[in-house]
This record gives sequence, structure tokens and C-alpha cells, in this order.
Amino acid sequence: MRASLACVLLPVAAQAANIILGNDDGWAEINVRTLYNSLTAAGESVVLSSPATDKSGTGSLTATPSALTSACEFNSCPAGSPAEGFNASDTRLNYVNSYPATAMEYGINTLAPTFFGGAPDFAVTGVNVGVNLGIQVPFSGTVGAAVEAMNLGIPAVVFSGYTGSQTAWNVTTPLYSQVYADLATNITSVLLASGAPYLPANVWLNVNFPAATSTTCSSASDYKFVLSRIWTAIPLISAADVETCGSTRLPLERTVVDTTSDCYVSISVGDGDKLDANATLQGVVLEKLQSILTCLP
Ligand SMILES: *[C@@H]1O[C@H](CO)[C@@H](O)[C@H](O)[C@H]1NC(C)=O
Ligand SMILES: *[C@@H]1O[C@H](CO)[C@@H](O)[C@H](O)[C@H]1NC(C)=O
Ligand SMILES: *[C@@H]1O[C@H](CO)[C@@H](O)[C@H](O)[C@H]1NC(C)=O
Ligand SMILES: *[C@@H]1O[C@H](CO)[C@@H](O)[C@H](O)[C@H]1NC(C)=O
Repeated sequence: MRASLACVLLPVAAQAANIILGNDDGWAEINVRTLYNSLTAAGESVVLSSPATDKSGTGSLTATPSALTSACEFNSCPAGSPAEGFNASDTRLNYVNSYPATAMEYGINTLAPTFFGGAPDFAVTGVNVGVNLGIQVPFSGTVGAAVEAMNLGIPAVVFSGYTGSQTAWNVTTPLYSQVYADLATNITSVLLASGAPYLPANVWLNVNFPAATSTTCSSASDYKFVLSRIWTAIPLISAADVETCGSTRLPLERTVVDTTSDCYVSISVGDGDKLDANATLQGVVLEKLQSILTCLP
């Protein structure tokens, strides 16, 4: 009796998801390390595969990795280090001396078979230092890495945050970095709990967090989540978006993040061309994230 009651009352521990984590700010930037720690603490099995140096703004570029001719960013590896390397104390922390999309490809095709015995379940990139909204999207290497994962058949989400600047992994974790990592972990958990397929094929999510300071939006529980679109819709030409919040036109992601009456996170549904996915695909995401989504005032 006691045992069966416990079975009913205790939450069933979800199976850990195998996740490749990437970014474009580099493997030693603190945001990606904070997210690594946060996802791992949430019970996921995470392997980091990111550029050895800051490769912001490199979109979907790829190149064969090469040995380091100077040190990795923040002196996180010495000059002369091999093209791919890892932290000897935690071999899940890997760098690739190339572009973000190449590092993601390496994570999926080379690291995942070693650590997971096969393909990862999910890919996460970020949290990018600085937002990736609208016109910034095609240039972002953090987006490029996620789209690379998507092209390899792995559901992928990009996270970017307004606050912060390039910061080394081995300083005290800034508040924004922890808040953004908590939020990214929350959204990832909701998607994983929605069941496979976690996202439709050829779809990725672009998630942007507004400013986080010690006085505003200082805790993950302060935030609200709004389904949005990446690009401005062209009247009479752009097809309708999924119907939600009493409209068939989603708010622009920039509008969501710029709405300062509360702490609003934008979640846009992207396609393989880094354009907005159609209403059907937006609808699948709407259903999966329904429990956390809200409308702008
Ligand atoms: C972080 O690590 C680098 C490389 O080992 C070192 O140069 C730097 O002093 C460290 N910073 C802190 C704050 O410990
Ligand atoms: C490697 O991992 C150790 C142990 O977690 C940590 O102290 C060190 O700062 C890490 N260095 C890098 C470059 O990741
Ligand atoms: C997200 O996680 C944080 C801390 O891990 C928690 O305080 C917060 O309530 C969560 N928010 C949502 C919407 O799940
Ligand atoms: C959206 O795209 C999907 C996949 O290509 C397709 O199955 C669906 O019919 C499209 N929906 C609309 C409204 O165009």
C-alpha cells in the first residue's frame, strides 16, 4: 500500500535527454558554461561542442578545423593546441577550432556517437551574448549552429539574451547568465516533456530574452513567454500566422522583447531558410508550449 501510494505521488523521473550544446561566442564564454551546468543539473546528458574562439556573426559558415596558432579565448587552451580538444577534467566540454556550424556538426557526428552511442535527441545553442532578432538572425553563428543541427535531423533551439558582454567561464557567474540559463532550461524541459518529435522536421526555434538586471527581470519566475515571428509580415503578401491571442498575425519578436511593461521572452518558429515557418508548423509549436505561453498586453 505504502509503496503503491509512493508510486502515485512521486513524480516519475523523466529519461535524461542527450543534448549537444553549442554557441558562437566560444566554448569558454560563461553563458554556455552556465547553461551546460543548468541543463546537467536538470538531469539532461549534455555535451558541449563550440568554437575555440569567439565566432560571432559567422552565420552558417563551415570550414575544416585547424590547430590553434594562438591561445583559445580567455586563455582557455594554449597556442599550438589541436584542432579539436576538450577539458581533461570534464571531457564533455569540447572545443572545435572552426565555425559554430562546424562545431555543431562535430558534436552531432563525432561526439554524440562516443558519449550517447548514437545521435543526440536535441540540440541547444547559446545563451548568445546579445539578442538575435529579425535581420540579425541570418548573420548569427548561434543560429547557424542550430540550423546545422536541424539540417542533420536534430530538433534545435537558439537562446539569446540582451544583457551581458563576452565573459570568461572562470569568474563568478553573473546574475543575467544564471537567469537566462534557468529560462533556457525551463523551455527545453517543456519541449522535452511534450514528447518526440520535439519539433517538426525542418523547424527550429529562435528564443530571445529581454534585459535582466538586479532590479528588473532578476529571476526566471519573473518572465512570460510569447509566440512571435522573426520577420515583418508584408500586408496582403505574407500568409497568415497561426491563430492565437485573437489574431492570425503573431507579434514581431523585437516588439515582444521591447515590451517593457513586463519581462517578455519571444519564441519564434524558424525554417531552413531562417525565415518564419508557416502557420501549420507554428501551430505544432503553439500546442507544445501552450502551458507557458501568454499574450502581449
Ligand atoms: C581563468 O583561467 C585563465 C586560464 O587558465 C587564467 O589566465 C585566468 O587568470 C583565470 N581567471 C580567473 C578569474 O581565475
Ligand atoms: C576544466 O574543468 C575544470 C574542472 O571542472 C575547471 O576547473 C576548469 O576551469 C576547466 N577549464 C576549462 C578551460 O574549461
Ligand atoms: C524556471 O526555472 C526557475 C528556476 O529553475 C523557476 O524559479 C521558475 O519558476 C521556472 N519558470 C517556469 C515558467 O517554469
Ligand atoms: C506548412 O508546411 C508543411 C511542411 O512543408 C506542410 O505540410 C503544410 O501543409 C504547410 N502549411 C501551410 C498552411 O502552408
